[in-house]
Amino acid sequence: MAKDVTINALKEAKGKRKLVMITAYDALFASLFADNVDMILVGDSLNMSFAGEPDTLSATLDQMIYHTKAVCNGAPDSFVICDMPFGSVTTPDETLKNAIRVFKETRADAVKIEGGQERAALIRHLTDNAIAVMGHVGLKPQSVRAEGGYRVQGRDEESFERVLSDAVAVEEAGAFALVVEGVTPKLAEAVTKEVKIPVIGIGASVGCDGQVLVWSDMLGFFEAFKPKFVKRYMHGAEAVKEAVARYAEEVREGTFPGEEHCYL
Ligand code: KIV
Repeated sequence: MAKDVTINALKEAKGKRKLVMITAYDALFASLFADNVDMILVGDSLNMSFAGEPDTLSATLDQMIYHTKAVCNGAPDSFVICDMPFGSVTTPDETLKNAIRVFKETRADAVKIEGGQERAALIRHLTDNAIAVMGHVGLKPQSVRAEGGYRVQGRDEESFERVLSDAVAVEEAGAFALVVEGVTPKLAEAVTKEVKIPVIGIGASVGCDGQVLVWSDMLGFFEAFKPKFVKRYMHGAEAVKEAVARYAEEVREGTFPGEEHCYL
């Protein structure tokens, strides 16, 4: 079944219109987001906001497949991307086997792979085998333990040049688009100018070809911390707490359910 958004339409958007991506982890929210976005990413960030883990590293391929299926069910016409979790992109055979599982077991349109030059051969192996790949360079959350923290990239010449080369390597490997995370505006703009594929920023700059935010951050449901780059478009956590408090109060005082909620 043809989807509303295709890879070609996404590629052609570069320089013409901004692309909007949001994460989703379940059918219900995916269905609420579908009409207003170009792409839905089933990000491994679900391991933090949904599973309550301190980072994304313990997310499994089974978990990602489960959530991607749910998102595809909720937004059947949307362009859906499944994040390849930590440990699933290692050798060429293993990476291809894992990506094929995603394509066979879900209706995802693409997978996302964190990494630059060091992952280029693996990305090429997937694109040569009809798996569409979105790259992810700059700050790479899956490298948090190896790098001893989340570090903004591009403040020094070494990281500026490395991320730029990473972006080029990922494009040359056949990726159709690229996430650039946690970089200075100057680097985000240099990457966007350097490559011909759409560059989707997060913690980057308005100079990118599009933006992505984690849904539970931008709707204010995730309260544990708020990175600088997050804008809260609603206060979800407050709204939920307030609604549940009213429900609890009405149950306790005996005013819910009312007659209108009963089968008379
Ligand atoms: O896991 C995720 O949600 C992501 C986005 C932050 C791009 O990779």
